[in-house]
Amino acid sequence: MRILSGIQPSGTLHLGNYFGMMQPAIELQTQGEAFYFIADYHSMTSLTDAARRRQNTWEVALDFLACGLDPKKAVFFRQSDVPEVCELAWLLTTLTPMGLLERAHSYKDKVAKGLSPLHGLFAYPVLMAADILLYDSNVVPVGRDQKQHVEMTRDIAIKFNETYGQTFVLPEPRIRESVAVVPGMDGQKMSKSYGNTIEIFGEEKATRKKIMGIVMDSRTPTEPKPDADKNLAIQLLKLVEIKSVAEAVEEKLRTGQLGYGDLKKQLFASYWNHFTEARGKRAELAANPDYVRQVLADGAARARAVARPVLKRARQACGLE
Ligand code: TRP
Repeated sequence: MRILSGIQPSGTLHLGNYFGMMQPAIELQTQGEAFYFIADYHSMTSLTDAARRRQNTWEVALDFLACGLDPKKAVFFRQSDVPEVCELAWLLTTLTPMGLLERAHSYKDKVAKGLSPLHGLFAYPVLMAADILLYDSNVVPVGRDQKQHVEMTRDIAIKFNETYGQTFVLPEPRIRESVAVVPGMDGQKMSKSYGNTIEIFGEEKATRKKIMGIVMDSRTPTEPKPDADKNLAIQLLKLVEIKSVAEAVEEKLRTGQLGYGDLKKQLFASYWNHFTEARGKRAELAANPDYVRQVLADGAARARAVARPVLKRARQACGLE
């Protein structure tokens, strides 16, 4: 089984990225042949600062490795180190119906949020389809927001196979329903573009301040809260804390034995603790840039070795060779 996923270096990674995509991807790395990459080409649709992209790409590499991506198990690389993906994107684009792209939620959301409706943003799902198809991927672990893109990939692959003969493997999205949507500080989906994120490796003081600043309702500590499971801090706590502890805290809140201040203190402590080991690992990696560069170089070579024959197959199928 080939597993593939990508993450954009468009900003500092947060708990939404971690629980939605990184953690499931890391868990899957032992279940098959995993290919994980930093989608720097994709980041060009929302970020036009070259130095930032370079820096973000580096940070994502450190973050992912620190969180447990094991380069001995998974092939870890930078998308643009395998430029074959751009050629495949063109082959796919020639068969992609406008209507399919026009229905993309992600495109519509981004334009609604003020991003310019540039062609690259519109064609984003085609490049993503190329990412997936170039490696004969079977399973694509993603957050729920990316499900439609994987479905579009299937549609495009089917169209290509029907037009030029069996060429591509049809992938399946793998979404972990329990954490498919991580709520942000304001209760909306956690997302960089909503400015409601908690970073994975946030600085201690600033993150404590952020968490203590989560707005709650005005009920007093002793008031029972039958809706404790809907509480934002409880929902986040369930992600970063072991089940029994989180449930005990929830029960205290439900029965009026815990104030919101103490709840948020608990959340910060659990969050901090959850990433302590990874934080140490990240510091080690940051002190060893040559090692990280080597991991990405090895990953690119391994990825390319898989990509080249698949691209050749596609070129032959459509009469370019
Ligand atoms: N679009 C994905 C996101 O923003 C990133 C991505 C690019 C991706 N190519 C991919 C994810 C291929 C899975 C497979 O999260």
